[in-house]
Amino acid sequence: MMSNTAATKQLREEYEQFYTSRGLGRLLLSQIPDNAWFNKKLNALDLCMGQGSLLECVAEIASYTSLFGTDIDQFNIDAVNRNPQLNVNTYCIDATTPEVSALYTKEQFDLIVGNPPFKLIRNEDFIKTELENLGYYSCSAYIEAEVYFLLYGLKLLKNNGYLAYILPDGIFTKIALNTLRKFLVDNFTIESIVEIEPKSFQGTEAKTHLIIIKKCESKKSKIPLLKSQLPTREISKIDFINRGDYSYYRKASAFKKETLASLKVNILRGKKTKKNLLQMGVSNYIHTTNITHNGSELNTTLNADDKIVAQKGDIVIARVGTRCLGKFGFIESGEFYISDCVFIVRCNNHENQKSILNTLSSPFGKNWIDSVSKGVGARHITTSDLYKLPIVVGNNEN
Ligand SMILES: C[S@@+](CC[C@H](N)C(=O)[O-])C[C@H]1O[C@@H](n2cnc3c(N)ncnc32)[C@H](O)[C@@H]1O
Repeated sequence: MMSNTAATKQLREEYEQFYTSRGLGRLLLSQIPDNAWFNKKLNALDLCMGQGSLLECVAEIASYTSLFGTDIDQFNIDAVNRNPQLNVNTYCIDATTPEVSALYTKEQFDLIVGNPPFKLIRNEDFIKTELENLGYYSCSAYIEAEVYFLLYGLKLLKNNGYLAYILPDGIFTKIALNTLRKFLVDNFTIESIVEIEPKSFQGTEAKTHLIIIKKCESKKSKIPLLKSQLPTREISKIDFINRGDYSYYRKASAFKKETLASLKVNILRGKKTKKNLLQMGVSNYIHTTNITHNGSELNTTLNADDKIVAQKGDIVIARVGTRCLGKFGFIESGEFYISDCVFIVRCNNHENQKSILNTLSSPFGKNWIDSVSKGVGARHITTSDLYKLPIVVGNNEN
């Protein structure tokens, strides 16, 4: 038979039972911009309340608040029910199952707090449907529990309510989660993100971030990133889709940020359709089918006789086509005819050429192009948008 301590350890690992310290909970709630808001009569919920530490912090500053909490572990429910400092409407449920939607049917909370488990769970039909109802589509077999709890929390919030969560680094940095970050900035207001170093508070083993989201469309163009003692940095929504962690922008600012416009490159657009080029019978032409997402080296011994011709040193970039955007190439030798689906970026400075190619091959460059692309059918990018492509200069050693 398993000892009590071994059983507790097993549950702790299975349910990710790391509890938030009072200090971290207070710091989290202090990020909610409007202090006066706490004087109202609010409904607050923690879907994975553990032993109620976050709800205790809420009760501390918002005494009129009605508290609600669920947890999968009856031991935690009993602990919260026994706590004389807390008056919580508790329910022992697995909050990733339809039991939760039976309990809370509508957008009924002003405040949702959470430090959800960080682990993969099966993306069951219930989860898919609930997230789809919110407008978020995920068809993979597994989903991060923290993604589910974040989105389900947003679903249960009233309009203009706040969600205050402690989330793992991956939410802000994983390339695969850029669709989640885009969904967040497109539909909600991110009030602030605070980066926490591992072990800086009891109860944080992993690198985590605090995030405050308001349930309303964003009127602000910037997202504030904070880290203790360091100056606040503001990033654009497009930057956030790429990454939302303070450390990255602190390092990146060591390099000079330019754009294609500030590098004074010339952007030319091909005029001939692919059909025109085929009719001309030339072999040295570039269409979106001749370049790749990894970047193609393009060589020819031929010359081209046209008004717009790509020449040695030019960078070519796909202009149109949902699956083609992000493709690019570099002319190593010769001259090429260009189709109207391709831009030429002409830059005579060798170091700047390398910086542009580094940007185009980076996840940041690809996300940037994806996020500025327009069009309902075949998506495309415009010349004026392309001139705004941010380029990090001075980071060409790789
Ligand atoms: C990281 S702890 C955080 C607890 C509390 N929110 C805090 O900040 O101290 C995660 C909690 O989620 C609970 N939990 C894990 N899976 C759950 C699920 N599917 N439904 C509800 N609670 C769950 C665990 O029992 C644990 O108490």
